[in-house]
Amino acid sequence: MRRRDELLEKIRNRTAVVGVVGLGYVGLPFAVEKAKVGFRVLGVEQNPARADKVNRGENYIGDVRDEELRDLVARGLIHAQTDFARVPEMDVIVICVPTPLTKNLTPDLSYVEGVTREVAKRLRPGQLVSLESTTYPGTTEEVMLPILSSSGLKLEVDFFLAHSPERVDPGNKRYTTKNTTKVVGGVGPESLAVALAFYEQTIERVVPVSSAKAAELVKVFENTFRAVNIALVNELALLCDRMGLSVWEVLEAAFTKPFGIMPFWPGPGVGGHCIPLDPHYLEWKAKELNFNTHFIALAGEINRRMPEFVREKAFRVLNRLGVAPSRARVLVLGAAYKRDLADHRESPAVEVIRLLRAYGAEVAYHDPHVPSLRDVGLDLESVSLTADELRQSDLVVIATDHSAVDYGFVVAQARHVLDTRNATKGVAEGRERITLL
Ligand SMILES: NC(=O)c1ccc[n+]([C@@H]2O[C@H](COP(=O)([O-])OP(=O)(O)OC[C@H]3O[C@@H](n4cnc5c(N)ncnc54)[C@H](O)[C@@H]3O)[C@@H](O)[C@H]2O)c1
Repeated sequence: MRRRDELLEKIRNRTAVVGVVGLGYVGLPFAVEKAKVGFRVLGVEQNPARADKVNRGENYIGDVRDEELRDLVARGLIHAQTDFARVPEMDVIVICVPTPLTKNLTPDLSYVEGVTREVAKRLRPGQLVSLESTTYPGTTEEVMLPILSSSGLKLEVDFFLAHSPERVDPGNKRYTTKNTTKVVGGVGPESLAVALAFYEQTIERVVPVSSAKAAELVKVFENTFRAVNIALVNELALLCDRMGLSVWEVLEAAFTKPFGIMPFWPGPGVGGHCIPLDPHYLEWKAKELNFNTHFIALAGEINRRMPEFVREKAFRVLNRLGVAPSRARVLVLGAAYKRDLADHRESPAVEVIRLLRAYGAEVAYHDPHVPSLRDVGLDLESVSLTADELRQSDLVVIATDHSAVDYGFVVAQARHVLDTRNATKGVAEGRERITLL
C-alpha cells in the first residue's frame, strides 16, 4: 500500500519521472505530451542517431511540433539515451517498441522481451511498467510479468504492471494523443489504479477494463475491425470491376444511409505497421486455443491481393492504349501507405511499384514525403512532378492520395491516369483519361 500511495502522490503532483522506451511514432509524441504537463521524461532509444536528434531538439516524427520538442529539451524536460542505466530514476516506464511479425506471420516479441529484461535488471520498488505496444492478449501477464518478477520484487506490492494500447492515428489533426480516449488494463487492481492515475494526467478520457489481457484484445480487435471492413470494400471493388460498375459511386450512395453503416474505402491494399500486422497477432493466439479466426484470414487474403489487382488493371489500361506493358513507362504517385504521411512501411504503393517492375515496366515515382525508396530495397528516388514527367509517362497510377498533389494538373498533363484512391474526384476536365480502381 505504501509504495502504491507514494507513487500515486508523485504522479498526481507530477514529480514522477517518466521513462519512455522506444522514441518512434508512438513514443516521441507520448514523451512530448507528458513533458508538456511538467513530467520529466527520460527516453531510452536504441538508435543513437534518434537519441542524438532528440537531445538536440530536432524532431523526426510528423505528429510532433518542432518548436515544442525544442523547447521541452531546452528546459531539461526531455532527455534521451541509448542505454537503460537510468531506469532506477524512473517512476513510470512506458514501453513503445516495435511488435513486428516474423516471415511466417507469427508474433515477434523479441523487442518487448529484450526491453523487459533490461528493465527487470534495474527494477526497484515503487515503479509502474506499462506496455503500449500492440500485441496479443496475454503478453503483459504471460511474457512480461515472469521476466519482471525474476527481479525478486513482488507485483502489486513492490511494482505495478499494466497495458494501455496506443491508438494514435498518425497525421490525424483532430484526434491526437491527448483527446483520443485511452483504454487501460492492469495486471491486478493496484496496478490498474496507478496506471489510471498516470494516464489521466494527460489524456482527456481514460477507460478502465478488468485486465491487461482485455486491454490487449481491445486494441487488436479495433485493428481487425478496420482490416475486415477495408477487405469488404476491396472485395466489392473487385466485384464492381467485373460488373462494370463504379465501386466509388456504389459506396458513396451506400454511405448516405444515416445509421447502420460507416464509411470505409477501397484502395491498393493496406499498409503501415498496424492494420496488415496486428490481426495476425490475434490469429496466432487464437490458434493456441484451437480456434480459427476466419475473418482475419480472409481479410488478410483479400487485402494482400489488391496490389496485384492494381498491377493487372494498369496493364489492361496500357493494352487498351496500345502500349505493351513491358515497354511502358509508368509514373506512380505516392509511396507512403497513407495520405500526407512519410511512412512507407508495408506500403501497398511500394508493392505496386515492385510488381510493375517485375513484369517489365519502367517505373518512376513521385512522393512529396518520401524522397527515396532505397531503405525498402528499391533503387528509386522521388522524381519532380513536372508536366514533362507526366507527359513522358504512358500511365500515371495514383497509389496514395497526398493532399499536396494538384490532381487537376496531373490529369491535364497525363496521357492516362489509373486512380486507386478516387483522388481525382474533384477533377472535372479530362475525365475520359481517368480509370478508377
Ligand atoms: N505507428 C502507429 O501508428 C501505431 C499506433 C498504435 C500502436 N502502435 C504500436 O506501437 C508500437 C511502436 O510502434 P511505432 O510505430 O512507434 O514504432 P517505431 O518503429 O516508429 O518506433 C519504435 C522505436 O523503438 C526503438 N527501439 C527498438 N528497440 C529498442 C530497444 N531495445 N530499446 C530502445 N528503443 C528501441 C526503435 O529504434 C524505434 O525508434 C508497436 O507495437 C505498434 O504496433 C503504432
